[in-house]
Amino acid sequence: MDNIYLPQAVKVLEIRKHTPVEWSFLLDYKVKEEPGRFVMVSLAFAGEAPVSISGFESRGIELTIRNVGQVTSHIFKLNPGDIIYLRGPYGNSFPLDKFKDEHLLIIAGGSALAAVKPVIEHYIHKQNSTLRRLDVLAGFKSPRHILFRQELEGWKKSHMSNKCIDIEITVDGEEDYAWLGSIGFVVNFIKNVKGIGKDTRVIVIGPPLMMKNSVRELLACEVKEENIWLSFERHMKCGVGKCGHCRIRDKYVCIDGPVFSYTEAKELID
Ligand SMILES: Cc1cc2nc3c(=O)[nH]c(=O)nc-3n(C[C@H](O)[C@H](O)[C@H](O)COP(=O)(O)OP(=O)(O)OC[C@H]3O[C@@H](n4cnc5c(N)ncnc54)[C@H](O)[C@@H]3O)c2cc1C
Ligand code: FES
Repeated sequence: MDNIYLPQAVKVLEIRKHTPVEWSFLLDYKVKEEPGRFVMVSLAFAGEAPVSISGFESRGIELTIRNVGQVTSHIFKLNPGDIIYLRGPYGNSFPLDKFKDEHLLIIAGGSALAAVKPVIEHYIHKQNSTLRRLDVLAGFKSPRHILFRQELEGWKKSHMSNKCIDIEITVDGEEDYAWLGSIGFVVNFIKNVKGIGKDTRVIVIGPPLMMKNSVRELLACEVKEENIWLSFERHMKCGVGKCGHCRIRDKYVCIDGPVFSYTEAKELID
């Protein structure tokens, strides 16, 4: 019988350093393009952690990892050519079928932008993926915390050729870097999104308080509850619905999520 916990040895192809604590790892692991799903990443003697897929590329998948503790600090010691262990992908994905020909707004706080990056890339790069309009609101603590600078610039350039794409980057405060863009919590910019209303489809991803405040603002802008999707992060062990670590009420974030519509999610928010 197959062991569902058995990871596969995978080669690190490339490491992309964004900030001192947030790096992307391109891995020689090919999976179907389903934005929103996660893999379980492990290293011997370090442990295992769930990580969202931040890019589906021809050479493999990209994972964008924040160095916060035991497992992630070991991953940050790897070099291209080294081996890492993966199982998955697991969980559900963002419901792209529900966004077809609609106005989609993506609100991302901090490093959570990694998990929705493949959704943005799907609409910006794929010829046959249609939206009426795409707005991205990406908020960071300060200019030095901005992730995917190069990608954000590229996405902004898409706006030049397609006026139905708008990318807004905001920072909570300037700190020591000069910043000519918007300043303030991302939630304050929601009401300025062109055409926002009951039919706008929205993805919200980020720290719990940011998601809660964003939903409150979206509802004030008359966005329908069933048109809002949230992606949850919970402590996980098995990733496959066996251990109960990620359970909230009757839902398992690893198999029923991590993506939930707000109609479901509002019952789960603490
Ligand atoms: C579905 C899902 C997708 C994720 N995607 C990403 C991703 O794309 N990139 C990324 O860097 N991280 C992601 N995470 C979070 C990542 O799994 C944790 O940061 C990781 O488990 C930390 O492992 P560690 O051993 O390095 O840290 P630990 O030594 O276990 O912990 C360090 C600190 O991080 C906190 N922490 C640990 N796990 C979580 C968690 N799940 N949520 C919030 N705080 C936590 C601990 O409480 C502690 O304070 C995701 C988590 C989930 C559930
Ligand atoms: S992580 Fe084990 S049930 Fe979800």
